[in-house]
Amino acid sequence: MPTWIACKRDGGELDDGALRTIVDGASRGVIPDYQISALLMAIVWRGLSPRELATWLDAMVASGDRLRLDRIPGIKVDKHSTGGVGDKISLCLAPLVAACDVPVPMMSGRSLGHTGGTLDKLESIPGFRTALEPREFERVLAKAGLVLAGQSARLAPADRLLYALRDATATVESIPLIASSILAKKIAEGADALVMDVKVGCGAFLPERGRARALARTIVDLGGRAGLRVIALLTAMDQPIGRAVGNACELREAIEVLRGDGPADTRALTVRLGAEMLVLGGRVPDRRNGATLIEAAIASGAGLERLRKCVALQGGDLRVIDDPSRLPQAPRVKIIRARTSGWLARLDAGLLGRGTTILGAGRLRKEDLVNPGVGIELDRKVGDRVERGDPLATVRFADDARWSAARPLLEPAFVVGPKRVPVHPTSLVLETIS
Ligand code: URA
Repeated sequence: MPTWIACKRDGGELDDGALRTIVDGASRGVIPDYQISALLMAIVWRGLSPRELATWLDAMVASGDRLRLDRIPGIKVDKHSTGGVGDKISLCLAPLVAACDVPVPMMSGRSLGHTGGTLDKLESIPGFRTALEPREFERVLAKAGLVLAGQSARLAPADRLLYALRDATATVESIPLIASSILAKKIAEGADALVMDVKVGCGAFLPERGRARALARTIVDLGGRAGLRVIALLTAMDQPIGRAVGNACELREAIEVLRGDGPADTRALTVRLGAEMLVLGGRVPDRRNGATLIEAAIASGAGLERLRKCVALQGGDLRVIDDPSRLPQAPRVKIIRARTSGWLARLDAGLLGRGTTILGAGRLRKEDLVNPGVGIELDRKVGDRVERGDPLATVRFADDARWSAARPLLEPAFVVGPKRVPVHPTSLVLETIS
């Protein structure tokens, strides 16, 4: 039995050499999965010291290639969300920041559990390619100022292996392991700075605010030690962002924001995160000036133009960007109606995320295919007045069996009460951690 498992089990600290050997051995497949799994469980309980975590992260980055984007001038800034329901912000944010002359190399993920994935949303665009070789990634970034792609297999391969083991051994929910997993990919993709959107609430990966704050703090500190400037925002994820939950319908809503419309909360979060990115990118001295530039990029259409450019370079059909009614829509429709009159008191993002996953917007197993045209459009949000029989949401789906399975999750997500609950402020930002 390797001594490193017992050392961590008993609360000891591993030296740098041992940590590098473990991460390297795991990614090359020379240490058995059962030993790595035992160590991961010990880390869940015992944690990693700041020094151990910094070495662990460095070893994860060193397990694969690291993109060098030095030929592209400027500070490259990415944004990452821990995952939400109706979270289409990246789709409008990246083009707007690029339109303000800060390059955005964005590597995103697919739907995970009940939360959506930016790659799945982008793939609602016919022809759009998210698998880019490093040279093409750099070429699109150079030409459009942004690139929206998936994780290449050669970047931080240790993370892919460790994540698969964590997923199978109930060891995902560890703050040092989550922080290093996210940052390894951001550092390997060549970003200089990162805005983290850490979700809090019933639709979030870590619903409890204290845990979300601890994750944000760890990511900011660990990123800083590794030379990546990070700012983290804790944002509310009790009800979905905006009105659309699904792939094509979320892309449609993001295009509305780029056209100067869209729901107020979606636009406000886009402007706020964009302003933070412009500050990190050295484009503006403070976020007030950043917000002004992002608003101007919406008003002038420069953000939408950047999205068009990126979609064209990545092989997507521009006709759906110019006319989003051409995006896929599932054929069947059900309306969820209010059973009583009152005020919408709760709109449970966790239930809606799980329900739309069953409809086919996300994956129950890794190999599942998503259906871009299924989803929900919310007619009411928390704080709205409703009369009995009013439509609360429109559900689009492709087959009755899935609707029957999703319905017990979707309908209870809407809770109508007798009193008006305080309406969420338009800003979803709860805290900033830097
Ligand atoms: N997302 C990641 O990329 N890694 C984790 O460990 C959890 C969420």
